[in-house]
Amino acid sequence: MPRPLVMGNWKLNGTKESVEALLSGILPAAESVKESADVAVCAPDIFIDQVARKLTGTAIAWGAENNDVHTSGAYTGETSPTMLKEFGCQYVLVGHSERRQYHGESDASCAHKYALLQEHGLIPVLCIGETLEERESERTNDVIRTQLAPVLNDLGVETLKKAVIAYEPVWAIGTGKAATKEMAQEVHAFIRELIAEKSAEVAAGVQILYGGSVKAANADELFAQDDIDGALVGGAALIVEEFSAIIKAAG
Ligand code: G3H
Repeated sequence: MPRPLVMGNWKLNGTKESVEALLSGILPAAESVKESADVAVCAPDIFIDQVARKLTGTAIAWGAENNDVHTSGAYTGETSPTMLKEFGCQYVLVGHSERRQYHGESDASCAHKYALLQEHGLIPVLCIGETLEERESERTNDVIRTQLAPVLNDLGVETLKKAVIAYEPVWAIGTGKAATKEMAQEVHAFIRELIAEKSAEVAAGVQILYGGSVKAANADELFAQDDIDGALVGGAALIVEEFSAIIKAAG
């Protein structure tokens, strides 16, 4: 079984004051599970230096929510993998559905970012998942297969030894309506099967996180599923008590 990982995705939220309070609040929970689970937070770029100063030497790793595909140059408003690395990021989210929806990211551009991150020693967290319409028309597995294809077929299954996958059904994100544990487990098992077709060893080792309305109340049952190795948490990652309880459920 892969080691559990609980990761917060703060999205476009936070102030210097709230970041300080949140990190101070969740540190005890992370320290209490450090023998058995990994904890990380992905923050808006503007807070990464603050996060790094606060978390260096603690049980919480940190990362970014996106990166550019260039390492430097005339790309106004972007942040490069080398910059993220310099500020101690370990993880970077790739292809979150909000980036796919609002910034036109494609499976191919996600694979490009994924590869570049690995080149620079960062761990991509590849986010995949179907919309409600796709689920209702029974296309979930096709969508998952298509979203994984550039990594599995072009970059190669071995790259997943240094990557994380997050299954986030779009209809469950920020809606308060999480996938049931059975629905989530079914898709996680399918993801692992697709990877196992290429390498059983990689499939057994890769962390597959569930994301979409994870909270203290449903974390235990989700984490009890065979193929759910942790969570990518949005809204509840901004609340000390909620995120601490989710961390403890993974530990
Ligand atoms: O990256 C996190 C996901 O988008 C889940 O967000 O926990 O607010 O539903 P949520």
